[in-house]
Amino acid sequence: MEFRISRAARIEGSLRPPSDKSITHRAYLFGSIASGPCVVRQPLEAEDCESTLACLARLGLTCERSAGEVRLIPATAWRAPEGDLECGNSGTTMRLLAGLVAARPIQAVMTGDASLSRRPMGRIAEPLRQMGALVVGDQPPLWIRGGGLKGIRYASPVASAQVKSCVLLAGLDAEGETWVSEPSPSRDHTERMLRACGVPVLASAADGVGVRGGSKIGAFEIRVPGDLSSAAFWLVAASLVPNSVLTLPEVGVNPTRSGVLDVLSRAGGSVEEAEIRAELGEPVANLKVRTAPSLSAFHIGADEVPRLIDEIPVLAVLATQCEGTSEIREAAELRTKESDRIAAMAAGLRAMGAEVETFEDGMAIQGPVPLRGTRLDCKGDHRIAMALAVAGLVADGETCIDGWECVRTSYPDFERDLRSIAVL
Ligand code: S3P
Repeated sequence: MEFRISRAARIEGSLRPPSDKSITHRAYLFGSIASGPCVVRQPLEAEDCESTLACLARLGLTCERSAGEVRLIPATAWRAPEGDLECGNSGTTMRLLAGLVAARPIQAVMTGDASLSRRPMGRIAEPLRQMGALVVGDQPPLWIRGGGLKGIRYASPVASAQVKSCVLLAGLDAEGETWVSEPSPSRDHTERMLRACGVPVLASAADGVGVRGGSKIGAFEIRVPGDLSSAAFWLVAASLVPNSVLTLPEVGVNPTRSGVLDVLSRAGGSVEEAEIRAELGEPVANLKVRTAPSLSAFHIGADEVPRLIDEIPVLAVLATQCEGTSEIREAAELRTKESDRIAAMAAGLRAMGAEVETFEDGMAIQGPVPLRGTRLDCKGDHRIAMALAVAGLVADGETCIDGWECVRTSYPDFERDLRSIAVL
């Protein structure tokens, strides 16, 4: 499926971005082991989160769906699934669910699509093995025989919320305490949700964060906030397109996730945050973005990378319009995402006329450079597809993106939303 887009005259109005993907995954996973029925209001209805729900249903969770709401009734004991746990394109499904499966006396095989099957799973298999689970495979398919886990202190070599969450979720049913530390802090949705559901989260400078085995997740209700990673496409689009003013209500602004707001501000963008409230431990705000008066080059390094890892593709588009050379370094993690995001963005932006130098761990982008529309390949990666669509909004001529169907994994209504706010 292809998507065609051309230059926008302005971006205006108000748009509630789709609900947060990371939080929806966690709400479903937590609900599957909670001490009573839970309600998830306004979940993200996109393929990745549907993969999590479908896997959990195979393991015994009962879901009752009505408009904009999922009610979860946990099973008293998980059953070994008939057939594979199909995680589709979703790394979060596979990595977090593996922690729950490994902690229960069942056997399961976890599979993924072609992209997920290329992604590293040794990063979760290794700590789960140290805890006592049998895990075969360092890439999907993963074969897991779980149960009888012992707590560990695990120093993760990568800053990854998926690794941290996998180990903490396994630790809830392990003997003793389970701790995880990481090179720099990754998003803390799991810790916040644990606390909000009555589970004490231990913290220490040396060992990172931890949980005590036997801690129980209390029943909860959540209304999932909007996803800052999806809002990021509109934040960058409205910053770049002239005469734009856009309101984005109800967006999650968790500080371990909000690096994109800091970069936009450093580059000279205009984003206001108002009316902050909290939802199950998560800060939520209304954002207002206007066309940036002028934009200068920015630098992103190791400490900031985990706080904006999913926004780097669209920040690369921003960099093409900033004065000077922007650099994104110490971001080799980008090569292990749904596609090699360094290669995919460099190829797409170069085809549009941008000057991009790549490194093993990042890229340098020269700006400002006029972009021109052309036919582009998004490598089956939703964030590359949508970032290139934003580039198309400021390019001369028509941009045509092949493989567009991948946006269904996180933002099925991207095109409808674009048409509602962009005056083309
Ligand atoms: C996610 C964590 C990040 C992010 C992914 C979702 C999560 O991955 O890229 O889209 O929900 O925990 P890593 O934690 O592996 O960097």
